[in-house]
Amino acid sequence: MCGIVGYTGPQSAATPLIEGLRRLEYRGYDSAGIALGTSNKLFVEKRAGKLANLESALGQVPEVHSGIGHTRWATHGGPTDRNAHPHLDNEQKLAVIHNGIIENYSELKAELQSAGHTFHSETDTESVAHLLSDLRKKHGGDLTAAMREAVKRLRGSFTLLAVHADTPDLIVGVRRNSPLVVGLGDGENFMASDVAAFIEYTKRAVELGQDEIVTITPNSISITDLSGKEITPREYQITWDAAAAQKGGFTHFMLKEIFEQPKAVADTLIGRLIKEVIALDELKLSEAELKGLQKIVVIACGTAFHAGLVAKYAIEKWAKIPVEVELASEFRYRDPLIDKNTLVIAISQSGETMDTLMALRHAKEHGAKVLAVCNTNSSTIPRESDAVIYTHAGPEIAVASTKALLTQIVATYLIGLYLGQVRGELASAEVKDIYNQMLELPAKLEQILETVEPLRELTRKFADQNTVLFLGRHVGFPIALEGALKLKELAYIHAEGFAGGELKHGPIALIEAGTPVIAIVPNTHEHGLDEKMLSNIQEVKARGANVIAIASEGIEILGATHVIRIPSTSQLLQPVLAAVPLQVFAYEMAVARGTDVDQPRNLAKSVTVE
Ligand code: AGP
Repeated sequence: MCGIVGYTGPQSAATPLIEGLRRLEYRGYDSAGIALGTSNKLFVEKRAGKLANLESALGQVPEVHSGIGHTRWATHGGPTDRNAHPHLDNEQKLAVIHNGIIENYSELKAELQSAGHTFHSETDTESVAHLLSDLRKKHGGDLTAAMREAVKRLRGSFTLLAVHADTPDLIVGVRRNSPLVVGLGDGENFMASDVAAFIEYTKRAVELGQDEIVTITPNSISITDLSGKEITPREYQITWDAAAAQKGGFTHFMLKEIFEQPKAVADTLIGRLIKEVIALDELKLSEAELKGLQKIVVIACGTAFHAGLVAKYAIEKWAKIPVEVELASEFRYRDPLIDKNTLVIAISQSGETMDTLMALRHAKEHGAKVLAVCNTNSSTIPRESDAVIYTHAGPEIAVASTKALLTQIVATYLIGLYLGQVRGELASAEVKDIYNQMLELPAKLEQILETVEPLRELTRKFADQNTVLFLGRHVGFPIALEGALKLKELAYIHAEGFAGGELKHGPIALIEAGTPVIAIVPNTHEHGLDEKMLSNIQEVKARGANVIAIASEGIEILGATHVIRIPSTSQLLQPVLAAVPLQVFAYEMAVARGTDVDQPRNLAKSVTVE
């Protein structure tokens, strides 16, 4: 939530700042603003609304070489010009931008107001600008020392960047429970919430730990802890290229990311079976620890939670360990029955979701080991976990998750296979067989995407509907939930996902003539699953529903008005294929209804507040 970028170097700073904000706009788009460090005074412009509003307001920008920029997802104070960042001190010489929440801001504000500071916004952030201003004076103009002391006074989660007109080419940043990375250029340096902001200029990045203060100038970087002790920068190479963070000819990032799914799944799977053994080299837990596991708890939010629900079926089947799946935002309020024999799997695309991070810490406090499934290198969640399996989806820019879901499901399948093998529940031949079926998924995804046009055309016929229901059984149930989430967030349509068996316990009352119902038909006859789902189709059809069935090739479907075919695979792997038509359905509905596909209202990609 909120995107932050800082630049110092030879370029006219407005260019990398605006470009960086464009790449970070997925993090929040309620307002945008920049502060440029000219000597003696700052140039500041900020506007409510999207980055485009700021760009049209900017006009002639001074040719200066450092500055900070912000794109906001509002928490304290509505999305207005006044509440937009940067926020300034009384002299208008010090500017601050912020991602997160300063929990004790009202206490600080009262103290600063009685010391003569005048506030102009309703934000929590402005108190930091005034506080830093006083502390900078106390420290003889040393902004880094001021930041070090300020941070000790702050409670909550934050990434902060500050610049002062008297030292215009110097930018100071800090992070606590919120992301910040440094980009190392040639005679220029960057800071940002995400490497996407500066990937066009450099692939060298430095990760920052909790409460580390970083100061950059064009030719230097210095990191210290809160006591002022120097910390050696931990440099890493960014593996994504600039093109991965651009639309590449697609009308929306979401559509591009839907079409990237075959590659994302293939990249996540590649090289994971070596000599008949699943190889998870990032899994640093000993075999003894894995054999002693008595329970797995998956914690995640939103789409990642749905991946966790799918994982439960696979891991329980293959590894014979009980799996609970918990919303991270609820898990931390419980006294969970977990201990050192529990493995907690934290699933997160961004690796920064605050609810998941807090749940992870709660699990560790209770003695559990944590394994992260994550897409973002060196982000907070994997850093704080005992082990990590990275999904290789590449950057996901659209707010609505697509390739993250598929790669998360695939990564948890690998965990299930590995645990099954280590615990002696699966023979090598079985593992090899399932892994080989997984290797066929990318080609099957290609097949779905090559034949997606009729579905897009069909979807447009439903554009004026206000309710859509999704039904699934077994692993189809989490996919029904995901289909409904996609439609809500993208097309602002009331959508709900139900387990087919629950229909008769209440939801069937929602069906009236013409209600669209999307039914995911299982791939298996085991437990009579397919027949039961076909009965559900008949039940809703009898009450007037307009049924779209998502079904594997070769299964006869009676009662559905439309049938969307997906290639056949085993039942447990079906979610990887069945999710795709639902993503396309939601995408096309959003386009037809004219909503903002990549940046839906009220949302942000990386949810770094609780
Ligand atoms: C869904 O389309 C959203 N992007 C959202 O539900 C997301 O999955 C959730 O906020 C969790 O994000 P994470 O994977 O980055 O932790």
